[in-house]
Amino acid sequence: MKIDIIQGDITHEKTDAIVNAANPALAGGGGVDGAIHRAAGYDLYEECRQIVHKTGECKPGFAVLTKGYNLLCRYIIHAVGPVWRGGNNGEEEILLNCYRNILALAIETGIKSIAIPNISTGIYGFPKKKAANIVGTYFKNPAEEQPSVEYIRFVCFDEENYLLYKNEFA
Ligand code: APR
Repeated sequence: MKIDIIQGDITHEKTDAIVNAANPALAGGGGVDGAIHRAAGYDLYEECRQIVHKTGECKPGFAVLTKGYNLLCRYIIHAVGPVWRGGNNGEEEILLNCYRNILALAIETGIKSIAIPNISTGIYGFPKKKAANIVGTYFKNPAEEQPSVEYIRFVCFDEENYLLYKNEFA
């Protein structure tokens, strides 16, 4: 599995799938979620609405798949990260589960390349260094999955995350 770390806007990525840092209602929002919904177009809101109608909200730590619509990617994996509440509420395990479920969904769908943002480190307030360490520890050794995914592109929007990831994967 090849890993790249770049600084940029994930809506420009051409990987098979990009990951969204969504909310449980898949209702769109600010941050990367807002950018993805704006770029993908109205049909994405509609598919998200139908998913929630059929299967209920997406719990923190889980992920669901939609089409990519007006984006350059074929799929969007909407992952719901934990809201940081001080660290004693299972936040770290929930964040790790997000990444596990992203990879599981990608493997199940036959997705070979994925662009991933820094889930939970914006509006949800997860400490960036701790998040980068969880991501690094997991992706340097994704253990049981032995993923058929060939390429992961970590797309960091802000410089702090970019430098933390560079250091983590050095
Ligand atoms: N491309 C890549 N990364 C981005 C982009 C973008 N266009 N815009 C923002 N980011 C980065 C932020 O810098 C941050 O590091 O995404 C990371 C995650 O931040 P948020 O988007 O705020 O996501 P999160 O902290 O997981 O909070 C999720 O925010 O937008 C709402 O609906 C969403 O309620 C949910 C919550």
